[in-house]
Amino acid sequence: MKYRGIVFDLDGVICSTDHYHYLAWKALADRLGVYFDETINNRLRGVSRMASLDIILERYDGQMSPEEKMQAAEEKNNCYRELLRQMSPADLAPEVKTTLDALRAKGLLLGIGSSSKNAKFILGQIGLGDYFDRVSDGTNISRSKPDPEVFLKAAEFLRLKPSDCLVVEDAKAGIEAAKAAGMDSAAIGDAVSCGLATYNLTCFSELLNCVE
Ligand code: G6P
Ligand code: MG
Repeated sequence: MKYRGIVFDLDGVICSTDHYHYLAWKALADRLGVYFDETINNRLRGVSRMASLDIILERYDGQMSPEEKMQAAEEKNNCYRELLRQMSPADLAPEVKTTLDALRAKGLLLGIGSSSKNAKFILGQIGLGDYFDRVSDGTNISRSKPDPEVFLKAAEFLRLKPSDCLVVEDAKAGIEAAKAAGMDSAAIGDAVSCGLATYNLTCFSELLNCVE
């Protein structure tokens, strides 16, 4: 086996939360009178909440104090969490679950490496609350992707060397973070076009071909 563990990004890899992020940022942008669309939303993939707000405020006609920024981020997060309550185990694609089970059956450790502070809540919503061996997320890091911190922590939590881990990512920032951590990476969806990953997947189950 080429690896001992696999570290999965959550949003856009294990499940799709993009649209909920979009709706929550859109509600905030509308209230602030800032233009926001799906293309700008794509730039927020893998980016932390506060850094996402800064991207949205590029079009804001005014100044916000640090306190006002914190309030705006909280407003977005409250709206986002309200939307996440609609998620259920039906939002976990059968292909994702069967692939995870097959990887685990090969003896691989499975971890999460997500910038989100809502990662554990989302995992609970889709029925994977206790599934992963370890979770490294936005609550245990101080630097967001493309910094490698979230993946290095995941390896540490799994008690594995970074070079024994494969990262699965849908964001360019995440592929860059994996590289900086000294880990191989598999790109899925949006991240394929950056051309920086060790493997490019056309579907989740292709991951099974990357590990041996
Ligand atoms: C993931 C998503 C980003 C999001 C970030 C922080 O990386 O891809 O779009 O901004 O998590 O999410 P949070 O749930 O903490 O606001
Ligand atoms: Mg992602």
